[in-house]
This record gives sequence, structure tokens and C-alpha cells, in this order.
Amino acid sequence: ASLKPYNSFGLPALARTLVRIGSDADVRRLLAHPQLGLQPKFVLGGGSNLVLTHDLHEVVLKVEVMGRRLVAELDDAFIIEFGAGETWHEAVDWTLAQGWPGLENLALIPGTVGAAPVQNIGAYGLELKDRFESLDAVDLVTGRSVTLDAHACHFGYRDSVFKQPAADGGLAGKSLITRVRLRLPKPWIPVLGYLDLQKKMVDAANHHPDARQIFDWVCAIRRAKLPDPAVIGNAGSFFKNPVVSEAQCMDIIARDPHVVHYPMPDGQFKLAAGWLIDACGWKGKTIGGAGVYERQALVLVNRGGATGGEVVTLARAIQESVYGRFGIRLEPEPVLL
Ligand code: EPU
Repeated sequence: ASLKPYNSFGLPALARTLVRIGSDADVRRLLAHPQLGLQPKFVLGGGSNLVLTHDLHEVVLKVEVMGRRLVAELDDAFIIEFGAGETWHEAVDWTLAQGWPGLENLALIPGTVGAAPVQNIGAYGLELKDRFESLDAVDLVTGRSVTLDAHACHFGYRDSVFKQPAADGGLAGKSLITRVRLRLPKPWIPVLGYLDLQKKMVDAANHHPDARQIFDWVCAIRRAKLPDPAVIGNAGSFFKNPVVSEAQCMDIIARDPHVVHYPMPDGQFKLAAGWLIDACGWKGKTIGGAGVYERQALVLVNRGGATGGEVVTLARAIQESVYGRFGIRLEPEPVLL
């Protein structure tokens, strides 16, 4: 099967076997299969955080577990459950339509609900972990279903136990998320600290936006600087924003006083990777079919016909020039295969 329609970068790759998973029982049926059961497996969600550089010999499990429901209305929160195959943005939109605000800052993030905890998606001052209750997953060896709470998920910045290798006690490649439960606090408290949202409030002279208004602003901000994967293939931010010590940050400010940096609660500083890449002159540059997006240097795009190899070549060249100029090693954010 061609994986091109199943990865938002639109990269060419084939899967020898693709199995659609609609329930926990489907996973157990696959594990019991005489030929496929013991073969290596690869879990595919929305494919929006993936760089495919070769064909997959693993059995590809395409997660299509559907469903959305209110699990409970508590005094201090709504608990909502989604099947892992639901589209994230539609899930956000649906909760707002039901009168359950709290996910609006995470509007328009590509991918599925099941992929959201894997990299702890985040935007505009909010991360998935801030709204997370628990999830169900199936062990890909034993077929057992387990429920994990936030603590067990080891959430970090664009990171979780599902990205951490087994050697480090992680679950990378070991389990398939089937359902995710979110906790939307009551009363609703808007998250408006992010600079882009502050600007919207000033421009609209509206300092008390409701959740739907924030949702609309976030959609507008994202559409203005991020390419729509349905039109231009991409996987969102290609690198994580690096975190450095205060001494390192001062060293970089000495090299370039304009560097965009944010103090963190622990005394370290987060640098804007997009700014570092932009400062090295990469915006709009192209290698083969792979390019650096004109309006946001942190996003690599498929200008048409790119291969995974070309994306990786471009990414390496960017890493080298950022390292040469600033001494910072940029770490890719999507999963490279
Ligand atoms: N900047 C430049 N040139 C560029 C790009 C950015 O100078 O080409 C500067 C901007 O002016 C701004 C700063 O860098 O001062 C940060 O840019 P922006 O606010 O666009 O956010 P970001 O740090 O590039 C992060 C997340 C995004 C998330 C936004 C909003 C990461 C790796 N990326 O991007 O998440 O939507 O903040 O919260 O943390 C993703 O993970 O795929 C993603 C899109």
C-alpha cells in the first residue's frame, strides 16, 4: 500500500502490509494472526509528525478507532473521551459546540487524537498535558489493554513515554493508543498569555474573548504563518525550540542581541529555533523538492515531489549552519523513519 496519502509531508513510501485498527479487539486479532502476529509493527496515526525516508517492512497499523462522548460532568471538570482515530481539530471544534471549552488554544493542529499525547502537542500557551485525564492503550506484544494516567505518560516538551525508547523504560513502538480522555476544567479560564493572542485582543479591542473567539483567533494566526498540509506537505515545526542555560543564552545574545529567547521557570532559556534558522538565511531556500517555508523558517515543506531523503538532507544542512553560527544543536521534532 502507498503511504503517500497517510503522511502529511506527502512523502513517497510503501507499506508491505497495512492493517486498519478499529478497536482493541482488532489489535488482538492481528497479534493472533499466524503470519502477521509476530512481525515488527509500526503504529500510524494521522501521519502529521512523520518523515518517511524509506519503505516500511513493518506491519503498519492504521489507527481508526472512532467515538466521542462525555464520560462525566464533575463539579470541577468535564471528562470527555475520544477514539484515537478521531481528527484532533474536529474534536476541539466539537467540544466547543457542546459548550465544553478548554481546548481552543490547540485548534488546527494536524493529526489525530491518538497522536496528541505521543508528542504532547502544544500551542499558544497550552499543552495537551494541561487537559489530559488518561488514555487506553493496547500492548503490541501481549495484547493487554492498559489505562495510563498523566504521571505514567511522562509528558515533556513535545515528548512522552510513547516517544522514549524501551531501553530508557519508554514505550516507543510497544503500544497502540486506542482512546484518550481529556479533563476540561470548570470554571473555564482562558489562556491568553501568548504574544500573538495579546495582539489579537488589542486589535479587536476585546479583552474578554469567549472560547470560540480564541479558537477563531488561533485558527487565523496559524493560517497566516503555517502551511495547510492539505495544500503544501509539511509536518509542522521541524525542530524543537532548544533549551539552554543562562550562560549559553548570554553567549548567544553577545553574538546576536536580537535572538528571540524566553525565560523558563527553572532558570533556563528557550530559544526560538525558527529565529535561529531564519538568521542563518534559510527562509525560502530549497534542496531538491524540500524547502524552508517562506513565512515560518521552523517549518520544512514539500514543494512537490520531495523525497524523505531530500527533507533529511535539508534538515542536516540547517542543523550544521545553526551549529556553526550559534553553537546550538537543533533536535528534529517529528519522528524520522
Ligand atoms: N521567528 C523568526 N523567523 C521565523 C520563524 C519564527 O524570527 O522564520 C521568530 C518569531 O518572530 C517569534 C519566534 O521566532 O518571535 C517564535 O515563533 P512562533 O511564535 O511562530 O512559534 P514557534 O516557536 O516557531 C512554537 C511551536 C508550534 C506552536 C507555536 C505557537 C515548537 C517546536 N513549535 O513555534 O508548534 O504552534 O509555538 O505556540 O515548539 C509544532 O510543534 O509542530 C508546532 C507548530
